[in-house]
Amino acid sequence: MSQPTQSNAPGDQRAFDNTSKLVAIAIGVLAGVAGIVVGIVKPFLSDAASTQGVLIDTLFGITLGVATAVFVIVQGFLLYSIIRFGRQEGDETDAVPVRGNVRLEIVWTAVPAVVILFIGLLSYQVLAEIEQPKADQLTVEVKAIQYAWQFYYPEQDITTSELHIPLDRQVHLKLRSQDVIHSFWVPAFRIKKDVMPDRVTETYITGSELGTYPVVCTELCGAGHSVMRSQVVVESDADFQEWLASQGVAKQQAAAAAAADPLAAGKQAFNVYGCNACHALTSAGAVGALGPKLDGIGTRAGTTVAGQSAEEYIKASILKPAAHMAPGFADLMPKDYELRVTPADLDALVKYLMEEK
Ligand code: CUA
Repeated sequence: MSQPTQSNAPGDQRAFDNTSKLVAIAIGVLAGVAGIVVGIVKPFLSDAASTQGVLIDTLFGITLGVATAVFVIVQGFLLYSIIRFGRQEGDETDAVPVRGNVRLEIVWTAVPAVVILFIGLLSYQVLAEIEQPKADQLTVEVKAIQYAWQFYYPEQDITTSELHIPLDRQVHLKLRSQDVIHSFWVPAFRIKKDVMPDRVTETYITGSELGTYPVVCTELCGAGHSVMRSQVVVESDADFQEWLASQGVAKQQAAAAAAADPLAAGKQAFNVYGCNACHALTSAGAVGALGPKLDGIGTRAGTTVAGQSAEEYIKASILKPAAHMAPGFADLMPKDYELRVTPADLDALVKYLMEEK
C-alpha cells in the first residue's frame, strides 16, 4: 500500500517472504528438537525416590502431554492459516471483516473448560492420596532456623541435624520455623512445603528408594539461605532402628560425661563448637581475636546487665548473640547455636564459663 512497497519488484518481495518463513520454521524446529534432546540426555530432576514423587511425576507427565497437544493444535492452526490465508502476490485489498462465530466461540470455551476440569480433578485425587494418613506412620518434627534444619523424633526424644527415614513407611512431617519463612524441599521426593513461624505446616513423605538425598531450603530467608541444606537418608527398617539406637546412646554418653566432669565437658564444647576460633580464653588455650576475650567472664557476667544473673547472661550471649553486643565488636557470631548446641553441651559450656573468674 505504501510507496516503498509498490516500488519494489513483486517477485523480490515474494522471495524474501518465503525465505524468512523458512528460516523462522527452521529455528523453531531446531529449538524444539534441541529442547527434547537436552530434556532426555540431562533431566532436570533425578528419578522420583518417594511414592508421592511417583504420583506427582505421573500427574506432571499427563499435564505436559495435554499442554503439548494444545500447543501443537493451536500452532498447527496458526501455521496453516499463515500458509493458506497469507497475502497473495499483488493482492492489495483489505481482508473480509468477520464479526463473531457463535459455534466456534462455544467450542473454544468448552474444550479448555473440560481440559482444566480434568487436570483439576486429577490433581485433587493425587493430593488426597498423598495426604491419606497410614496407620504405621512415623512422626518427625522439623524445625527451620536461620540457617539450618533440625529433626526431632518425639517417640524416641531424639534431635538430629540429618533426617533418617525407614524405607516404604509413611513419615508425617510437622514443620515449624523459629524465625523467618523457610521452605522445606526434597527435590528427589518432589515434596516442597513452606515453613512458618508461629504456625505448624504438615506434609507426608514415603521413601521408596534406598539412598541419600539433599534437603534444600527454597525460600530466600537471609544471607545464609544458599547453605541451608541437610540430607535425608532412606534406609531399611533394621538400619533405621540401629541409627535411632546409636543416636540415643550418643545422647546418653554426652549426658553422662557432662554429669561426671562438667568443666572438662564445657572446655571440650568450647572448642568443638568453634568458640575458640573467635574468642581468647587462657584455660582453653584459645587465642581468637574477632570476639571479646573471655578470661574473667564468670566475674563480669553477673554485673553486666542489671537484674540478670551470670548464668542467664552467658546463656543469652550464646543463644542470642546480638542481644548483648560488647562495645567495639562487630555482630559476627553465628545465630544458630540454639539449634546446634545440645542442651547438655550448653549446660556444660555455661558452667565452664561461669568458673572463669
Ligand atoms: Cu531458610 Cu532459605
